[in-house]
Amino acid sequence: MDTAAYLRSHIRTVPDWPAPGVMFRDITPLLQDPKVFRVLIDTFVHRYMTPELRPSVIAGLDARGFIIGSVLAYELGVGFVPIRKKGKLPFTTVEETYELEYGSATVELHTDAVKPGDRVVLIDDLIATGGTMMAGRRLLEKLGATVTEGAAIVDLPELGGSSKLRESGLELFTLLDFA
Ligand code: PRP
Ligand code: HPA
Repeated sequence: MDTAAYLRSHIRTVPDWPAPGVMFRDITPLLQDPKVFRVLIDTFVHRYMTPELRPSVIAGLDARGFIIGSVLAYELGVGFVPIRKKGKLPFTTVEETYELEYGSATVELHTDAVKPGDRVVLIDDLIATGGTMMAGRRLLEKLGATVTEGAAIVDLPELGGSSKLRESGLELFTLLDFA
């Protein structure tokens, strides 16, 4: 079995959660099995340890981006910065608001989290509409950093987020998709 199929076989689909009609792709079984967790992290490590793709910082999106992003940063020997939902970061922040299906959400980043010249890989577990990753990218760019690549385990291509992100000029690396 190839890596994508192996990882996919450890993602659980929960129908009608958190709302009727949603097929929720739950990555917790991937993390729970130490062999699978290692394959997952090593896949990202091998990509981002190559000199041309090696970032100076990993930024993780709240909340599951923290789990994979922090381990990846540790393995690469670079710093990790969290992009959090509004109201959680204690120091001065920049913020971005983006549209959800119903309503909006705001994410924040500490103003000293990155600096001009930083080359950042922005990571999350999953791309749906792409709104979260787009907002995270804008935050990092506000502080003068370059997002060299967005990374995620899962893409949900039918929701259009990955196409929209690529059309906006963001390089994207995802391990598998669910149509
Ligand atoms: C999920 C997922 C991504 C985001 C993707 O997080 O982990 O962060 O949604 O959706 P998008 O591409 O449409 O923006 P969620 O907002 O459910 O937050 P959580 O991690 O706190 O559960
Ligand atoms: N899983 C995790 N996060 C999500 C999903 C999903 O299926 N859909 C939108 N955000």
